[in-house]
Amino acid sequence: MTVLDTAVDTHSPEHRAQREAMLAKLAELDAEHAKALAGGGEKYIERHRKRGKLLARERIELLLDPDTPFLELSPLAGWGSDYTVGASLVTGIGVVEGVECLITANDPTVRGGASNPWSLKKALRAHEIAFANRLPLISLVESGGADLPSQKEIFIPGGAIFRDLTRLSAAGIPTVAVVFGNSTAGGAYVPGMSDHVIMVKERAKVFLGGPPLVKMATGEESDDESLGGAEMHARVSGLADYFALDETDALRQARRVVARLNHRKAYPDPGPAEPPKYDPEELLGIVPDDLKIPFDPREVIARIVDASDFDEFKPLYGRSLTTGWATLHGYPVGILANAQGVLFSEESQKAAQFIQLANQRDIPLLFLHNTTGYMVGKEYEQGGIIKHGAMMINAVSNSKVPHLSVLMGASYGAGHYGMCGRAYDPRFLFAWPSAKSAVMGPQQLAGVLSIVARQSAAAKGKPYDEEADAALRAMVEQQIESESLPMFLSGRLYDDGVIDPRDTRTVLGLCLSAIHTAPYEGARGGFGVFRM
Ligand code: COA
Repeated sequence: MTVLDTAVDTHSPEHRAQREAMLAKLAELDAEHAKALAGGGEKYIERHRKRGKLLARERIELLLDPDTPFLELSPLAGWGSDYTVGASLVTGIGVVEGVECLITANDPTVRGGASNPWSLKKALRAHEIAFANRLPLISLVESGGADLPSQKEIFIPGGAIFRDLTRLSAAGIPTVAVVFGNSTAGGAYVPGMSDHVIMVKERAKVFLGGPPLVKMATGEESDDESLGGAEMHARVSGLADYFALDETDALRQARRVVARLNHRKAYPDPGPAEPPKYDPEELLGIVPDDLKIPFDPREVIARIVDASDFDEFKPLYGRSLTTGWATLHGYPVGILANAQGVLFSEESQKAAQFIQLANQRDIPLLFLHNTTGYMVGKEYEQGGIIKHGAMMINAVSNSKVPHLSVLMGASYGAGHYGMCGRAYDPRFLFAWPSAKSAVMGPQQLAGVLSIVARQSAAAKGKPYDEEADAALRAMVEQQIESESLPMFLSGRLYDDGVIDPRDTRTVLGLCLSAIHTAPYEGARGGFGVFRM
């Protein structure tokens, strides 16, 4: 074993201050998560309960095996927009009858569970996760369909929801729809395209057009039950496979359906693993509040991998990027973690080599971000930093082993790409509250804009207004800062959630377990042309 050492002194003033700053950020995060939990608010929750209905998360809880975790995804979807935080949809991974499943549940307390542009993004992301990891998809349905005022943003791309359901089915990934209420118009295709359908008596309403629309279209008089009730679909149309007497009966029947799926994981559970030697609580004090101050990512690795056991690869070369092998909850992982912030040519080449090794050995990769990007300057340009950065980006892009990304601190510029940012399709990507991500740091960006404006004024022979420049710089800096923050980025679905650093090992363990449902094989070749 190669157990990592630690230099963390929990009594030092720096550690304490950093811990305090992180706790303050976590308190802010909790307040935003509480908004997602509150859904449509007191009034609508009460009305929902008075109707004898369960809330979205209560439905999920009854569906899952008792005392098993639920890894909720994208809880901050819609943050910073005009829509309710959480985007009227709950998504996540949980265990049903011993099978890890991807669960989505409409929140009918938020605008009747209608889907807005962020709900759509969140649902599509959930489907992507189900696909990549071969997780059965269970949709707990009760929705007013498209959020009508924002229909232009969702009607056309929203067709992908139904396409995904049938593509999952075609790929042998089971889909189950449990209908608790409205599932009308386009929404009717959720049960319509699912492999298994359960409907709740006198609650499910599944029709292409409700009574008023039918009256308008054909003049026919009808009612909800005869057009789309559970009993009608179970006895007459055949759209419902199972008729549930109430919500709990529906969830019980959903569990029975999953129990009979014969859905098998590609890899056996590795069994219990030794926890890290150091207390994860200490992760709160490791990231400096000022991201310009570097920190040693080995301190993080030591608190997330099994037994703090880490075999570093090329420790003496390209030292601004730490690479090495470990196991996490028993699953082998190759880790790439930024150490000094900047990526130089050596780090880029080391990363490309390391990624190829992981592919040869079929080992998933974990990227721990704290980078300001690739080094700039004459010496580095002449040394081929573009070629070397491109090598790393090529390796990340064409790697076929599953990737996980955690944004701990900075994730700026092309460094975000090389470290497997969102566009590089990591299976999962999470951020710590201390993370920041943007094309570059706010100060640098404001400074660049100012230089460009100054040069433009000079080229036109105009005087430069220094006072206006200072005001503009301050404004731009503030704007970029707010757009770099994890809650803002999570709101836009650029990650799968902002997590407490102390939960990192657990979250990654749940992800690795989900990942090992699907078989994978590293790329033995098939990389693009490595520009040497
Ligand atoms: N788009 C935008 N807002 C919607 C909505 C939708 N599709 N469906 C409901 N809402 C809003 C309502 O306007 C209401 O807002 P308010 O409280 O500010 O007045 C709130 O959500 C709750 O709706 P309400 O009708 O009071 O709830 P309900 O539980 O009694 O009924 C529905 C829910 C979904 C059955 C009903 O609202 C409905 O039929 N909506 C329209 C469905 C539709 O035609 N969708 C288009 C399909 S593509």
